[in-house]
Amino acid sequence: MKPDLFDLTGKKAIVTGAAQGLGRGMAEGLMEYGAEAVLLDASATVETAATEFRNRGFACHALRVDLSDRNALQRTFKEAASLLRDRVDILVNSAGIQRRHPPEDFPIDEWDAVINVNLTAVFMLCQLAGKIMLAQGSGKIINIASINSVVAGKNIPAYTASKAGIQQLTRSLANHWASKGINVNAIAPGYFDTPMNTNINSENNPTRYGELLERIPARRWGEPADIKGTAVFLASRASDYVNGVLLPVDGGFLGL
Ligand SMILES: NC(=O)c1ccc[n+]([C@@H]2O[C@H](COP(=O)([O-])OP(=O)(O)OC[C@H]3O[C@@H](n4cnc5c(N)ncnc54)[C@H](O)[C@@H]3O)[C@@H](O)[C@H]2O)c1
Repeated sequence: MKPDLFDLTGKKAIVTGAAQGLGRGMAEGLMEYGAEAVLLDASATVETAATEFRNRGFACHALRVDLSDRNALQRTFKEAASLLRDRVDILVNSAGIQRRHPPEDFPIDEWDAVINVNLTAVFMLCQLAGKIMLAQGSGKIINIASINSVVAGKNIPAYTASKAGIQQLTRSLANHWASKGINVNAIAPGYFDTPMNTNINSENNPTRYGELLERIPARRWGEPADIKGTAVFLASRASDYVNGVLLPVDGGFLGL
């Protein structure tokens, strides 16, 4: 019998931003490989997503929370852990927002909003999950960074700063926790066709869409299913000796 390095049976997962897009795709992957998951999201559609997953036989729960509200974040994380019987094997931080303005006109309240959701909430969730994982002596944290952790893009200074922060936060946590059985890694998605990118997709901004497509060696944008395998890998024992990496899932964008 082949060993199943990717089996997640019985593993308990918390996935943020899981109502749609990449978070939903990754949560689906973890559950397909056996994990029980709590989906956290600000959108009411998180309930619908969880119902659809339960109808497919997955162990899935949903909690609504605005992760930029620090008290709500702490309260809801506790609730999520308690739904998982106070075990957290996997944390996927996928909730994120994008705001686009030229740097000289970038409103400071939008800067704060991006940093709060994309960076501060991720750190707080890593802290909360990290404490449980340290007590367990094991855990997998997957932070969703971006190709913008490495290349700056256009009109997205706050997003770029937040995602570069995620790369170094991931390394910093990995430095401290790798020896304690916790793997902290980041995924850097390229361009994916999700609601986050509606205003630069082929329909709404064909010029920018075309420029970006030209820059992707795979000659296509990604779909949420394209990121599942990487999430399962980083959540499973197949990645037990992988620490602090930024793993691009980008159709080759960063290599061009
Ligand atoms: N789509 C891409 O091309 C792309 C590329 C690189 C990185 N990423 C990153 O991947 C992650 C997921 O992106 P996506 O494309 O799925 O985006 P999306 O907009 O489709 O989904 C993001 C989800 O996060 C939730 N969310 C946003 N703010 C929240 C808050 N304050 N509290 C709780 N939930 C909140 C939203 O409700 C939504 O369900 C993000 O971190 C994003 O930065 C996306």
